[in-house]
Amino acid sequence: MNICVIGTGYVGLVTGCVFSDLGNDVICVDKNPEKVAMLRRGEMPIYEPGLEELVKRNVDDKRLSFTEDVASAVENSEVVFICVGTPPLPSGDPDMSFIQECAKTIAASLNRYKVIVNKSTVPVGTGDMVREIIETNRRRPVDFDVVSNPEFLREGSAIKDTLEPDRIVIGAPNKLVAMKILELYAPLERPMIITDVASAEMIKYASNAFLATKISFANSIANICDAVGADVIQVIKGMGMDQRIGSAFLNAGLGYGGSCFPKDSSALLRTAEKNGFDFALLRAVIEVNKDMPIRFIDRMRTAMDGSFKGKTIGVLGLAFKPNTDDMRDAKSVEIIASLLADGATVKAYDPIAIENTRPIFPQITYTKNAYDAAEGADALVIVTEWNEFKLLNMEKIHDSMAKPLIFDGRNIYDPVKLRRTGFEYHCVGRTTAQLLTR
Ligand code: UGA
Repeated sequence: MNICVIGTGYVGLVTGCVFSDLGNDVICVDKNPEKVAMLRRGEMPIYEPGLEELVKRNVDDKRLSFTEDVASAVENSEVVFICVGTPPLPSGDPDMSFIQECAKTIAASLNRYKVIVNKSTVPVGTGDMVREIIETNRRRPVDFDVVSNPEFLREGSAIKDTLEPDRIVIGAPNKLVAMKILELYAPLERPMIITDVASAEMIKYASNAFLATKISFANSIANICDAVGADVIQVIKGMGMDQRIGSAFLNAGLGYGGSCFPKDSSALLRTAEKNGFDFALLRAVIEVNKDMPIRFIDRMRTAMDGSFKGKTIGVLGLAFKPNTDDMRDAKSVEIIASLLADGATVKAYDPIAIENTRPIFPQITYTKNAYDAAEGADALVIVTEWNEFKLLNMEKIHDSMAKPLIFDGRNIYDPVKLRRTGFEYHCVGRTTAQLLTR
């Protein structure tokens, strides 16, 4: 099938690669000429394990190409995927201008029947909006259909998530159109749900909001655990064994960040508000998430005699989660900003997100590895749970620090072992627990 993918962000680029790998002819469009030039040279604008190889293979096999020329890309395709960004506005609503612009461009290039597939995360009603824009702006009376096919990939495991999704959601105006999109996904042999457009759009928001709810629930339990001397790791383990609950997305820590959960939970809250429903539960989820780094900083300050002034603090992990260089809504930004505001000197390390952090914090020191960040520091903070931090030589770290003090915002270490090594160790939801030593 001839496919056009508009937008080469995480969703667009990975979708384009996977469809070309399945044997389709895919043309990926981006209005940013530098990005297109980079991709043509085989350089990736984002860090995603396995992506570069996948792009190269499909470009070499001539199934995948990149262009700025949206008109000819649309004209030559049967299916057009909209994968442009919907960043948050100050109101909490997503910015729909890129989607609207995209719909107008598609309308101008509509030369024969096409299926327009919305893959961007968009509020309920967007399918209708896209259809109306195309209807109003098309130059010829050519037929088309609009489908919603939300994406569930995670940064860091985007290719695997796209090849092996838990489910494929197709929201279509009728079964015939749904079958055309289903055909594209058939080689993946994954469960599919075919529904109407509005329900498909809602499935995406409801899923992300529910996952955010799980995280904020676990974090609230962690806060109580700290107060009563229980161990959140054991509590979550015990809860997760109940098959109705499951243990995924119940890791307590500094809260959720990234480009999706914060944006999508606010957008769903706005949709509820606009429709006269007070989604109090989701509002609380968002509040808990905002509160986690604040509580953490407060705890750090208390343990460091009430102030960070004049202290050197090592920060391990900058990206919003491991295996990505994405800094959008990363907890490190809030933590480092608070430390600096209170007079601390910060030394930070991340395996791949340093270059993306420099413009945000040009005034801090970036180190070559985790050991250099810890050396001479009065405290070490774990912000992102990269695997390489789990395997550090903690005795070496202990001996090189000015004070052996660790604040672990992701619960990656064994408190018993660390305390035995001589550290004062603070974590989330298990700092005061009487942990079993044998
Ligand atoms: C999320 C969803 O997981 C994807 O299914 C969805 O497609 C994507 O949003 C999107 O809407 O595009 P992503 O933001 O890449 O994916 O990252 P996640 O792995 O879901 O992590 C989100 C945040 O939650 C991270 O900050 C992570 O540290 C945090 N988290 C996750 C926790 O604090 N605890 C957990 O147990 C799990």
